[in-house]
Amino acid sequence: MKILGIESSCDETAASVVEDGRVLLSNVVNSQIDIHKLYGGVVPEVAARSHIEVINPVINQALTDANLTWDDIDGIAVTYAPGLIGSLLVGTLAARTLAILKNKPLYPIHHVEAHVYANFLNETPPEFPMLALIVSGGHTQLVLFRGHGDFELLGQTRDDAVGEAFDKVAKMIGLPYPGGPSIAKAALVGDPHAYKLPKAKMSGSYDFSFSGLKTAVLRAVQREVGVDISFPSHDLPALLGDVQRANFAASFQYTAVETLVDVTQRAYQEYSPKSVVIAGGVAANQELRKSLSKRLPIHIDYAPIELCTDNGAMIATLGYYYASKKEPIDPYKLEVIPSLSMTKTAWA
Ligand code: KG4
Ligand code: ZN
Repeated sequence: MKILGIESSCDETAASVVEDGRVLLSNVVNSQIDIHKLYGGVVPEVAARSHIEVINPVINQALTDANLTWDDIDGIAVTYAPGLIGSLLVGTLAARTLAILKNKPLYPIHHVEAHVYANFLNETPPEFPMLALIVSGGHTQLVLFRGHGDFELLGQTRDDAVGEAFDKVAKMIGLPYPGGPSIAKAALVGDPHAYKLPKAKMSGSYDFSFSGLKTAVLRAVQREVGVDISFPSHDLPALLGDVQRANFAASFQYTAVETLVDVTQRAYQEYSPKSVVIAGGVAANQELRKSLSKRLPIHIDYAPIELCTDNGAMIATLGYYYASKKEPIDPYKLEVIPSLSMTKTAWA
């Protein structure tokens, strides 16, 4: 079964064809990073316009790269939640129109849940029960999957997502957007123990918190450059040298990673899952991968980096499993839900 996956929930326009939920036939991603870099973050209106310009060429390219025509496609899977409303509308409208015109079944896919399915594009997919740490720009969640579409949210961030913290700290110390890869790169030459930063502990739960860590970095930078707490954060980067910048990047990354791994390790001990996966943009982080592998007594098969950030392949992969259990949705009735949390989407 060949599923075309379409993703446009944030700043990537992406389409991919996946066969039987495990073989990647094509993967086209048009990133808007260069456009949003100018503003230091994603501008929703600009994102939506860019999606409109490229959505059709991206979908056509996914078919061409897979060497397929519409006749070969068995279904269309599309992200309908959560995300930026204007961005979601472009992808879903394209998918709905194509489902009607080409007479294909249409499957609505939850973006955050789909991130986890980047780990299923593999000869030996993860076994259930599966513990998933989902770490992206908008989400930080620990989820226990008992089967496809059968999951329980164990914990989530009470404030900022960890990716958001990477992005904000990067801005504060003068590293380019997106902050995750910039911090990871700068940290390579920094000392992770140069600055002692606090790890937030939510006692008795699997929740996370990253806003205190972000503020702790701000205060440490202000102290380091000798200004008081009223000094504006956007003027700080000019006062930092390269060594200090690298040390802040490494110390922040170390603390953020340890916070994630501490909570995941506790959940592992309680639930004894058969597999552990990480998903979302921050899952591309090498220090997170290294630390998790060191601390958990289980082999973790990490997804390729390019499948961690937003892509259509993860949408097509989850679409395959969804299609095996659920009826397609009426393309005239599919609506976007910009803030749908994953707890409300269990579908098994
Ligand atoms: O999953 P994603 O592409 O989009 C969302 O659904 O949010 O995640 C984007 C986030 C950004 O915050 C970005 O800074 C972060 O993932 N990210 C990383 C790395 N690569 C991307 N964070 C840490 N280390 C990385 N190597
Ligand atoms: Zn994402």
